[in-house]
Amino acid sequence: MGDQVPLGARPAAGDRVLSGKRVVLGVCGGIAAYKAVEVCRRLGDAGAIVSPVLTRSATRFVGPLTFSALAAEPARTSLFGSEEVGAGSGAPAPAVPAARSAIPHVELGRNADAVVVVPATARLIGSYAAGISSDLLSSVLLATRAPVLLCPAMHTEMWEHPAVQDNLTLLRRRGVHVLDPAEGRLAGGDYGKGRLREPEEVVAALEAVLVDESSGTAGTVSSRADAGGTLRGVRAVVSAGGTREPLDPVRYIGNRSSGKQGYAIATELQARGAQVVLVTSSPLEPPAGVEVVGVETAAEMAEAVLGAAAGADVVVMAAAVADYRPSAPAPVKLKKSGAPVRLELVPTLDILAELGAHKRPGQVVVGFAAETATGDQLVELGRGKLESKGADLVVANDVSADGASFGSDRSAAVIVSRGSLTDLGVSDKRAVASKLVDAITDLLGAAGVPAPKKGANA
Ligand SMILES: Cc1cc2nc3c(=O)[nH]c(=O)nc-3n(C[C@H](O)[C@H](O)[C@H](O)COP(=O)(O)O)c2cc1C
Repeated sequence: MGDQVPLGARPAAGDRVLSGKRVVLGVCGGIAAYKAVEVCRRLGDAGAIVSPVLTRSATRFVGPLTFSALAAEPARTSLFGSEEVGAGSGAPAPAVPAARSAIPHVELGRNADAVVVVPATARLIGSYAAGISSDLLSSVLLATRAPVLLCPAMHTEMWEHPAVQDNLTLLRRRGVHVLDPAEGRLAGGDYGKGRLREPEEVVAALEAVLVDESSGTAGTVSSRADAGGTLRGVRAVVSAGGTREPLDPVRYIGNRSSGKQGYAIATELQARGAQVVLVTSSPLEPPAGVEVVGVETAAEMAEAVLGAAAGADVVVMAAAVADYRPSAPAPVKLKKSGAPVRLELVPTLDILAELGAHKRPGQVVVGFAAETATGDQLVELGRGKLESKGADLVVANDVSADGASFGSDRSAAVIVSRGSLTDLGVSDKRAVASKLVDAITDLLGAAGVPAPKKGANA
């Protein structure tokens, strides 16, 4: 992880996508606010008419005067119009000032061609998701119909918090564009995911959003820059969790799978617009908006997955399905006798092999291989599974890696396909999900499965 966002739809040099566009540049209170100054300058250089809107907290980190000096419009810091700072003299002045109204948030929102928030704090993301307009910036976000690009930045713990991720999932579903942060140096000498993307990446992502919106080809922006609807029309089935094979009414043979990886994949697919059925044996809270089918045993998992797969474009077998089950579970609780107990185990149905054998044209089947192997050996095991099961992608995990065992939030994964290999190292399961869904999207695109459609932007 930690690679730069490939900004797939960056317009060719010379295209003046931002020229004459009214851009509200929201700035929140985080260390990365200093980078918003450079974003402001670059937007002005690209011909945008920039209206900076700083939160109260942002003014603790950067001065509004700096933005006013660089932007066409004065920086604003308050819902109550008197607090404009400076003249706003930096870049092309509009014929009609954007927001001299008594209701600045409505004027700014209405007049904007785009709103970009750099950095977007956890607070702003939460307010926006909840529809709470507690200050000028959150009011503008609710008042606008223009495309919105959020560029979050925060410490890794905050970024990975389910509340923040759930809020972003909700916003993406509403058509808001999110430029995921990078992995790198953070404030306070820390390192991890949460670092604001560089100013040139932010500007390129905004250009891509505007091209995307105007051409009606949502999805040409990198999936990580725009998870708003690239998989709209795609039907996906994801399995998650470890199955339980009964020995008697109270005991079972199980495994340590938590279901977190499958849930992360379901969340990612759903965030990109796919219609998702999650077949799960995990007790985790399912992501909002996915259809959940609860199962316990390998046989139940097989029935539910194979049934749903018949109409699906994508099937991801992330569940840890038992390979064997007791041949004859006792109908009543087994009594302790002190004598050894012999168990007969019989193989369960190989769901992935079934899926591979009955794949529909264009359908993408993804398997997981949990191994205790590293490096080339892990890749070979992944390749072997890809071939033997007839899958299109296999995620091979080294479950013996430090901090990446079953049940943890991280995974040591390699994504293997025919002809490519992506080594993710030890990464957050959400990052694995994001990369995997990128690979699935590529395969679907190559197979011509439901072309991405335009996402509605609030
Ligand atoms: C030194 C410092 C750095 C901070 N950096 C961040 C940050 O990078 N991301 C974040 O979400 N919050 C950060 N915070 C917390 C926010 O400033 C705080 O949540 C504030 O209420 C955000 O207000 P705003 O969203 O209105 O700008 C930081 C706070 C301090 C004191």
